[in-house]
Amino acid sequence: MGTSSRSGNSNIILVGFMGTGKTSVAKELARRLGRRYVSMDRMIEERERMPVAEIFSKHGEAHFRDVESEVAKEVADMSDVVVDAGGGVVTRDENVSALTRNGILICLTASVDKIVERTKGRKHRPLLNVEDPKAKIEELLSARKSFYAKADREIDTSALSISEVVDKIIKEVGTFPKEIP
Ligand code: S3P
Repeated sequence: MGTSSRSGNSNIILVGFMGTGKTSVAKELARRLGRRYVSMDRMIEERERMPVAEIFSKHGEAHFRDVESEVAKEVADMSDVVVDAGGGVVTRDENVSALTRNGILICLTASVDKIVERTKGRKHRPLLNVEDPKAKIEELLSARKSFYAKADREIDTSALSISEVVDKIIKEVGTFPKEIP
């Protein structure tokens, strides 16, 4: 990914598909680094005053994506935070441009079976509330592959504990300069 639009690397933004561990890892990473944890989904829910699943059912996915883009810009103005980004954030280039202005994008990945296992029985993700979640996961993963590839680094969490993923991220973050000249 090009770094021409980057002015700094102060935020750490976790992207990646649902069930790859973004939320647990972001919370632990923030704790370890003494930084603030920021959840984009929670920011969206606060703005809309309803849970994500209800935003989808009442207003549709397109509306959710518009609010998500507004939140991406708001997050881009923050400094030194650990961001837990929703799984679809990277599907809009404007979000990626905003978030990378002052941050590093780390993409968490996992095998389809792990994603199925980790998301099973959880009803708060509207895109996976379908008859055949595995087929939906495979379809979305393949449609989003090129978007996730835009991240600065990628970490496969399939066989790792939360603290092992955090260790890896801390190591990766150390390889980035703090400010881009
Ligand atoms: C979505 C992922 C969810 C949430 C919404 C849509 C997606 O976040 O933003 O349900 O499009 O992949 P998590 O990845 O935190 O589950």
